[in-house]
Amino acid sequence: MTKVGILVGSLRKDSFSKKIATNVAALFPKEFEIEMVEIGDLPLYNQDYDDESNAPETYEIFRKSMKDIDAVLFVTPEYNRSVPAVLKNALDVGSRPYGASVWDRKPAAIISQSPGNLSAFGANHHLRQSLVFLNMPILQQPEAYIGHVANLLDENGNIKNEDTRKFLQTFVEAFIDLIKKY
Ligand code: FNR
Repeated sequence: MTKVGILVGSLRKDSFSKKIATNVAALFPKEFEIEMVEIGDLPLYNQDYDDESNAPETYEIFRKSMKDIDAVLFVTPEYNRSVPAVLKNALDVGSRPYGASVWDRKPAAIISQSPGNLSAFGANHHLRQSLVFLNMPILQQPEAYIGHVANLLDENGNIKNEDTRKFLQTFVEAFIDLIKKY
């Protein structure tokens, strides 16, 4: 069983990113196990915590759960033209202690969304920059920029736009092809 972890860059209860993540999780075939990874309980990264006797308990829980994960899907909004701090913090926590990164060589894919028309392009590409350094092979095409997200979801948070659903299915299939290569 291949395990895909989904990290969402928003902690908001009614987050559009969470809704998109839930919809995309359902598009994977049954042989994939999908886990929504909790990142909201990770204290801000501090290099003093690299001494594991000092590290918050949630760091260890997070790093252990990430070690079991084969591939990572990021679904994120944009904050001030960049990656929300909660997601960058999770990347930093998982990247340390030096030499023990949980990200190394794990295939990754990014979906960015916004209620406006820019589709969180800035966050998508800033995130990509970090993933290159973290040595994660990233899905190149199709790129997933979801704009006007509120118009694509019904009152239960399900995607009501058929073209978007089909596009995300194609995106998931391309991600699976990438995962199979690694
Ligand atoms: C935003 N928002 C936003 N939108 C955008 O397209 N570009 C941006 O740079 C920003 N910056 C920004 C900063 C901060 C601090 C907040 C709170 C919001 C709006 C953002 O796209 C909107 O709130 C989304 O709904 C956030 O995603 P979730 O929480 O619905 O997943």
